[in-house]
Amino acid sequence: MTERIHKGDTQMPEVFQLRNGRDILIRRIRKDDAPRLSEHFSRLSPYTRRLRFFAPMRTLQVSFAERLADVDFVERAAFVAAYPGEATLRGVGRYARETDDAVEVAFVIDDDMHGLGLGTELLYHLAALARENGYTALTAQVLEENHEMLAVFRGCGFPYQAWGDGTVIHVRLDIAGEDAEGQPFPSDDVQ
Ligand SMILES: CC(C)(COP(=O)(O)OP(=O)(O)OC[C@H]1O[C@@H](n2cnc3c(N)ncnc32)[C@H](O)[C@@H]1OP(=O)(O)O)[C@@H](O)C(=O)NCCC(=O)NCCS
Repeated sequence: MTERIHKGDTQMPEVFQLRNGRDILIRRIRKDDAPRLSEHFSRLSPYTRRLRFFAPMRTLQVSFAERLADVDFVERAAFVAAYPGEATLRGVGRYARETDDAVEVAFVIDDDMHGLGLGTELLYHLAALARENGYTALTAQVLEENHEMLAVFRGCGFPYQAWGDGTVIHVRLDIAGEDAEGQPFPSDDVQ
């Protein structure tokens, strides 16, 4: 069963089993991932790029990739996914501090790996780290047509609010809750 929240040490790489049975490694981003982020971006479809960056970007500038790879894991954080033994990145989930209590999250995954559970798992890693850092909410801005991203937020088990302005849906997830035993909510047995 998929863990509802990542409960391991967010510093350690972790192997996650995709829905197709293949293992994938999720780890903290490193500064030397910048070229791998550019390479990952170059493999994405124009549609996926637009859903992630809201603009038809053709390349990820070196300086931008370097900034994306250089995070402090408190105010800005990112996890990347790669098959064990491979350097090529397959997915990235990140957050950036928005307010004292909330961080804004964003994700991008290889086009041919959507629907395998990776986006949800990256969300749990980010939620666990955000909680460790004292944040109580995750927020996101999602293009209205992005049903996959909205499905991840709706299905992840955290209390969910969403409101729209016609083009963009604003999402807020409450990550502060605890179950009856004081464990982070949602716990493993919540469906
Ligand atoms: C949005 C995105 C991050 C989701 O990641 P993902 O790994 O595909 O998500 P998951 O596999 O965890 O899927 C969660 C839900 O999305 C739906 N879904 C996602 N991809 C799907 C697909 N190809 N076919 C059918 N359903 C799909 C499923 O309903 C699934 O719900 P379920 O758990 O009830 O089956 C990914 O699709 C992506 O990179 N999209 C392009 C970039 C983007 O939109 N970024 C968001 C900017 S905020």
